[in-house]
Amino acid sequence: MMMDIPVKPADVTFTDAQWKAIWATGKDVLVSAAAGSGKTKVLITRMIEKVLSEHNPIDVDELLVVTFTNAAAAEMRHRMAEALEEAIAVNPDSIHLRRQLSLLNKAQISTLHSFCLNVVRQYAYLIDIDPGFRIADSTEAALLRDDTIGEVLEDAYNADNPEAMYRLADSFTSDRNDQSIETLIDRLYDYSRVHPSPERWLRMIPMQYELDEEVTIDELDFIGPLKT
Ligand SMILES: Nc1ncnc2c1ncn2[C@@H]1O[C@H](COP(=O)(O)OP(=O)(O)O)[C@@H](O)[C@H]1O
Ligand SMILES: [Mg+2]
Repeated sequence: MMMDIPVKPADVTFTDAQWKAIWATGKDVLVSAAAGSGKTKVLITRMIEKVLSEHNPIDVDELLVVTFTNAAAAEMRHRMAEALEEAIAVNPDSIHLRRQLSLLNKAQISTLHSFCLNVVRQYAYLIDIDPGFRIADSTEAALLRDDTIGEVLEDAYNADNPEAMYRLADSFTSDRNDQSIETLIDRLYDYSRVHPSPERWLRMIPMQYELDEEVTIDELDFIGPLKT
């Protein structure tokens, strides 16, 4: 569905591409441009135009705006306030506009993380999480991870068929504790997290070792890069 966008007035400095991005509707829009080229300006103008719309005005707290950093969220909120004040100066009698300034306080303009945190907290009862949960700091998270790895290894040693675990230990530890295996698992976990499907990546690794008897070491996929 392609709607006609307003004709760009002669006195605005927006480029044609900016103007299109401000008014695009009925589809997803991706704006990619250099720093300082006017992305935030376009986004703020998009928001303002939705609030000012003659046919279908919305309230600022109906928008969801997420950023990566707190600083960017604060900037968005600040620039939205400025844009509203400019609009009020042009249109001082608008009750709708004045209401927006007070609604701005509870508008959903935040980092992605804090938005997600709010959603999880609000709907904690649906996913069976203690609503009093909090975010672990990195030290605490590292301790929890260590405990978990310890428990997983313990279970592997106590499993009905612990041979694989003993082979793993023989291959990767030289001493009496499993520290080097734990470090290895830690690193694998961290590496896996940068992939879009961490679990799939982890499951793929062992497949590189599923080889016919007659395959020589030089034929292995990962030997080339290692030798260069
Ligand atoms: N078409 C334009 N003409 C003049 N100034 C512009 C234009 N687009 C953006 N600006 C101004 O350029 C500056 C940087 O814009 P900003 O939206 O912060 O860039 P970005 O978010 O892409 O880093 C702002 O002061 C903005 O008002
Ligand atoms: Mg910006």
